[in-house]
Amino acid sequence: MSAVPEPILEIKSVSKFFGGLAANSDVSFTMDEGMILGLIGPNGAGKTTLFNCITGYYPPTKGEILFKGQRLNGMTPDQVCKLGMVRTWQKVRPLAKLSVLDNVVVGALVRTGSVPEAREIAREQLHVVKMAHKADFLAGGLPIGERKKLEVARVLATKPDLLLLDEVMGGLNPAESEDIIQLILDIKKRGLTQMVIEHDMKAIMRISDRIVVLNSGEKLAEGAPQEVVSNPEVVTAYLGEAHV
Ligand SMILES: Nc1ncnc2c1ncn2[C@@H]1O[C@H](COP(=O)(O)OP(=O)(O)O)[C@@H](O)[C@H]1O
Ligand SMILES: [Mg+2]
Repeated sequence: MSAVPEPILEIKSVSKFFGGLAANSDVSFTMDEGMILGLIGPNGAGKTTLFNCITGYYPPTKGEILFKGQRLNGMTPDQVCKLGMVRTWQKVRPLAKLSVLDNVVVGALVRTGSVPEAREIAREQLHVVKMAHKADFLAGGLPIGERKKLEVARVLATKPDLLLLDEVMGGLNPAESEDIIQLILDIKKRGLTQMVIEHDMKAIMRISDRIVVLNSGEKLAEGAPQEVVSNPEVVTAYLGEAHV
């Protein structure tokens, strides 16, 4: 009999209050290694807040988070990153006056004190996101699609086991989004685990092994993509958004 592998991430009854507002309310789920989990929900559902709680930007008001069996509560984002979990930002802000390569070097320096080694890692990651030819460009001059890929390269350079992507397709045209979908699937093939916040339902259906739906801070549903989109409560939550 083979042992059941431990989940890479366990979210246990996490709540986050801002004054009287419950941005996250008693949210629980787990992630297995190598999977892609889609995190969806209407605007203001608490998706980004949950990323912030998981990655150490906010202390959860209640509950606990275990990464590779280790309790994260009280850790800083830096400490969480060193353990192997890193997130991207919904609004990407590259270091505009640095080159594309140097932006990624900043990520790589999490793992090594050697600048030549960091450059080596950074070049590899630019290759992964298919931006090696842009290494010497100024990051500030990149169009949005390439800024998003640069952001992914920067976090990949920290050598994570678990990657959290916050609306990495937001604001992109269909061709650029397709590029990102292929990149996410490629990252999966490399063995990384990913949690992906995304508004585009077609995209999330294609890439996710499982989907968790948040609504008003609470977990509304969880399951296989087909199961979740045919859940009447989920449909209502999204229709509600369309009518706002
Ligand atoms: N730092 C904060 N202070 C106060 N309220 C916040 C803060 N961050 C988020 N919120 C509120 O928490 C709720 C969830 O926000 P958010 O997690 O950004 O949602 P989503 O990413 O699903 O759109 C919203 O009502 C938002 O206004
Ligand atoms: Mg958000």
